[in-house]
Amino acid sequence: MDETYDIIVMGTGLTECILSGLLSIEGKKVLHLDRNDYYGGDSASLNLTQLFRQFRGGEAPPAELGRDRDYNVDLIPKFMMANGELVKILVHTDVTRYLEFKQIAGSFVYRDGKIAKVPASEMEAVRSPLMGLFEKRRAKKFFEFVQNYKQEDPSTHGGIDIAVTPMQNVYEHFGLEAGTIDFIGHALALHLEDSYLNRPAFETFDRITLYMSSMARWGKSPYLYPLYGLGELPQGFARLSAIYGGTYMLDKKVDEIVYEDGKVVGVRSGDEIAKCSQVICDPSYAPEKVQKVDRVIRAICLLSGPIPNTENADSFQLIIPQNQVKRKNDIYVAGVSSSHNVCEKNHYLAIVSTIIETDNPQVEIQPGLDLLGPIVDMFIQIADISEPIQNGTTDQVFVSKSYDATSHFETVCDDVKDLYKRVTGNTLVLKQRPSQEEEQKEMAA
Ligand SMILES: *[C@@H]1O[C@H](CO)[C@@H](O)[C@H](O)[C@H]1NC(C)=O
Repeated sequence: MDETYDIIVMGTGLTECILSGLLSIEGKKVLHLDRNDYYGGDSASLNLTQLFRQFRGGEAPPAELGRDRDYNVDLIPKFMMANGELVKILVHTDVTRYLEFKQIAGSFVYRDGKIAKVPASEMEAVRSPLMGLFEKRRAKKFFEFVQNYKQEDPSTHGGIDIAVTPMQNVYEHFGLEAGTIDFIGHALALHLEDSYLNRPAFETFDRITLYMSSMARWGKSPYLYPLYGLGELPQGFARLSAIYGGTYMLDKKVDEIVYEDGKVVGVRSGDEIAKCSQVICDPSYAPEKVQKVDRVIRAICLLSGPIPNTENADSFQLIIPQNQVKRKNDIYVAGVSSSHNVCEKNHYLAIVSTIIETDNPQVEIQPGLDLLGPIVDMFIQIADISEPIQNGTTDQVFVSKSYDATSHFETVCDDVKDLYKRVTGNTLVLKQRPSQEEEQKEMAA
C-alpha cells in the first residue's frame, strides 16, 4: 500500500466503483479500498451468512432457507430504468459484458385499498380500472401534450411554458382528478412526495417521458435488474477499473485521511500510508464532512410465495402513494425472486421502504407489510441519508451522497456526473466505447 496514486477511492458502493472505472479508463492510477470483505458497501447484495452477520450478530441462518450461495439479498431497493442514465453508463463503459439483465415483470400502484397494475400499453390503459371513461379521455389529452411538447417549438406549448409553469397548474389545465394526479406524480413521475406540484413542470415532464420511454423499450415494466443482484453492478465497474490498472484492497481498515496545508496528501491504514492527490469516498469514510438530510427505513422481507394480487409476478415494484395512506412520503415495495438468482426457488424477497416521519418507523411501513402475505423473516435497517457539506474543491476530498429513497438509479447517476465534474474539471460525456472485440481487432490491424 505504501505507494503513490493519483486517486484513492474508499468504499466500493456503485457510485465509487463507477468513478473508479471511469477514471482508470482515462489513465489515472487508482487505489480502491473497502473496510468490508465484500464489494458493494451500502449497495451490496449479501448471502445468508453475511445477512445474518450484519443483522443478527452472526446467528446461523435456519436450514429451511436453503443454501447460502443461492442468496444475493440487496440492501437497497433500486431498479434500473431501461432508458435511464445507468444503462447509458453501462453501455459507454462496456460493463454490460460482465452482466446479464432481466426485466422486472410488473409495476403496481395502491389505490383505494387495492393493488392495480400500472398500464404498460394503450390496450391495458383502455381496460384499466384506475380511471373512469371521461377521466381516461382527459388523461389521454394530457399524455399527448407531454409527448408532443418541445421547448424550442412554441406551437406545441398550448400557451403553457413548462420551464416556469408549476405542475399543479398543468394538471388543472387538463382538469385531472386528485386520484389521477396521485397516479401520474407518484407511479409514473416517481416523485416521493408532493413538493413537485409547486415546481416548474419540465422536471415532471422529463420524468414521465423517462418512465414511458423505458416502458416502451421492453414492455411489462420500465425496469431492468441484474441477475445475481444489484451487487453485481459495482463489481462490474470494479473489474473494469482493474483491467485498466486499478488496485483493489478489501477488508482494509482506513484510519485517517492525511492532509498537508489543507489539502489531502494520503490515506493511513495502521502504520501504512498511501499517498495521493485526490480522495473519493462514501459518507461513512468521512462522517465529519456530511450532514444528515433524511432517515429511511428498509425492511428486507423473506416471503414464502409471490405477493397477493400481483398476478404471481416473479418481480415487481409497488408504490403506495402518500395520500393513499395519509403520509407525506410514499411507501415503496420492491420484489425479486429466484428467477433473478437472488434467493432459493421456494422463496421471494421484498423490500418495503419509506422516508421516516415519526418516532415509530416500523409502524410507518405497516401498510406495505400488510400487502405481502406471509413473512418468513424480516431484517430492519434504519439509515441516515447524508450528503456532503462541501464540494471538495478546497481539500480535494470528494464525498458521495448516500443512496436515497428513490426506486431507481437516476439520482445516483446525477451524483456520479457531479463528482466526475468536480474531480476532473470536465463534463462526463457518454458515448459508446469500442467493445473488447473491436479493440482487439483495432490492435491487430
Ligand atoms: C465549491 O465551493 C466553493 C465555495 O465553498 C466555490 O467557491 C466553488 O466555486 C465551488 N466549486 C464547484 C466546482 O462547485
